[in-house]
Amino acid sequence: SILMLAGIREILLISTPRDLPMFRSLLGSGERLGISLEYAEQPRPEGIAQAFLIGKEFLDGGSACLILGDNIFYGQGLPAMLRSARLQAEAGGAVVFGYRVADPQRYGVVEFDKSLAVKSIEEKPAAPRSNYAVTGLYFYDNQVCRLAGTITPSARGELEITTLNSLYLEKGQLSCRLLGRGMAWLDTGTPDSLAEAGNYFMTIEK
Ligand code: G1P
Repeated sequence: SILMLAGIREILLISTPRDLPMFRSLLGSGERLGISLEYAEQPRPEGIAQAFLIGKEFLDGGSACLILGDNIFYGQGLPAMLRSARLQAEAGGAVVFGYRVADPQRYGVVEFDKSLAVKSIEEKPAAPRSNYAVTGLYFYDNQVCRLAGTITPSARGELEITTLNSLYLEKGQLSCRLLGRGMAWLDTGTPDSLAEAGNYFMTIEK
């Protein structure tokens, strides 16, 4: 739904060989939702940036938006923010989103200079330079597949999305927008955080 709010209608869903058939049977061609869905396997957990190797043909030299399936965004003004981030990335560079958290060492962490330009970006740092986590929503220009092809696996054996973002930073082409008080970001990657997200939406829906 976040991709749809960003005005994106052609979506490639990437998952494990085990889980992909379930997504396919749930969502199908996407026609019912007014979108077009394609599916691709990531055989092994070799990193988020691998999406741009797996999705290279799908993207066919175009710009891209990537969202992690366990990330939930909710809040006022989201559609306008998404559309403007998309336009910015299409014009050149990468746009990511920062969200203030208490436990930044669990995430990619972004540090800003005085003018709020990105100063550094690190994956799960032991000593975080800020409290801003990089959320799992990324907009990239048409260089993304080429740049993803140049990165090497990290110590944990993954093609890190943070390494890809660092390449944009080195070129002076990474911008980070802060999600403020009016916005909720939930990473549902642990049983606890999944339960919390369930409670949050139960309250909102009620
Ligand atoms: C991944 C990214 C990390 C980002 C997080 C957001 O972490 O590597 O930079 O902050 O998603 O959910 P992982 O899912 O690998 O722990």
